[in-house]
Amino acid sequence: MRGSSDVTDELDRLRADLDARIAAAGDLAALEAVRVEALGRHGSVTALLRGLGGLAPEVRREQAPRVQALREAIAQALESRRAVLGEAALAARLAAERQDMSLPALLPPAGSIHPVSQVMDELAEIFADLGFTVAEGPEIEDDWHNFTALNIPPEHPARAMHDTFYIAGEAAGEAPGRLLLRTHTSPVQIRTMTASPPPLRVIAPGRVYRSDSDATHTPMFHQVEGLVVDRDTHMGHLRWTLETFLKAFFGLEDVALRFRPSYFPFTEPSVEVDVGCSWEGGRLTVGGGQSWLEVLGAGMVHPRVLANCGLSPDTWQGFAFGCGIDRLAMLKYGMTDLRAFFDADLRWLRHHGFRALDVPTISGSLS
Ligand code: DAH
Repeated sequence: MRGSSDVTDELDRLRADLDARIAAAGDLAALEAVRVEALGRHGSVTALLRGLGGLAPEVRREQAPRVQALREAIAQALESRRAVLGEAALAARLAAERQDMSLPALLPPAGSIHPVSQVMDELAEIFADLGFTVAEGPEIEDDWHNFTALNIPPEHPARAMHDTFYIAGEAAGEAPGRLLLRTHTSPVQIRTMTASPPPLRVIAPGRVYRSDSDATHTPMFHQVEGLVVDRDTHMGHLRWTLETFLKAFFGLEDVALRFRPSYFPFTEPSVEVDVGCSWEGGRLTVGGGQSWLEVLGAGMVHPRVLANCGLSPDTWQGFAFGCGIDRLAMLKYGMTDLRAFFDADLRWLRHHGFRALDVPTISGSLS
């Protein structure tokens, strides 16, 4: 049986040893190891507490409070060291996770603007400068707006040229006829003239559809329609407008224009418009006058079309034009294959696309 002084010595040694190890614990894991060694199930202090049972009653009475005191002192020392180490760990983590709010944001690349969208923006900008607003119409049209009101009645041979996609079902409302995917942007003329009284000056860019597909045709493509209706509009206005537009669009001081007599059911007279072009490095570019390239259909709005929209041809006259946007984009930016426009090939888009924040403006010479 051990004497009380032995036990006292052992307690003092143990306390000194544990205090030193608690103070030396450099992080929470090391401190936890000390705790287990002292107060765990097989810990040294726990063993002392258990050992009290084997002491002589009078020694136990004397020693028990001291062993208890040791246990509490060690528990407290552990706790205060844990607080210190916890704070240090938090401070280290805060320092490691510090965010520099002055750094630029890590955003995914913004993507690019498709050349067709770019050209549409350029068109809107050029024509806004001439007092035109942008009009829109539905891509699912009815027969009346797409054909009949444009002086293309059901038996008219021009319908055969349009390779129309028809849609099952009848159009609702007053405008009867089959539903279809619009084959041109000209129905927006009808929608504009029936919606608001003249004078009118609009362009209508948008998607059109024809059942046609090869190297130079895609089933969906883009057109822009122009319409001016006023009291004494004439071909001279049409010519000046187209010339001004083409000069601004291609960034040229001068552009050669040639009007060739043509036929469209909705215009009378009708013309096809060619621009002067030249070959540069194996590529046809607008400007100069060695060759001609057809870019537009145009004419004076047919009196019957005005009448179909409730306008008296005796009071109102107008001009209209229609133009393929994809073709304009190819000519201006040098793409050669129309089909690539709609392949959604990221490499093509990165190469031919425009920066999203570079909005075309007249003062910035468009692009
Ligand atoms: N709508 C015609 C087409 O798709 C283009 C056109 C020609 C529009 C003459 C017009 C125009 O407004 O006057 O081929």
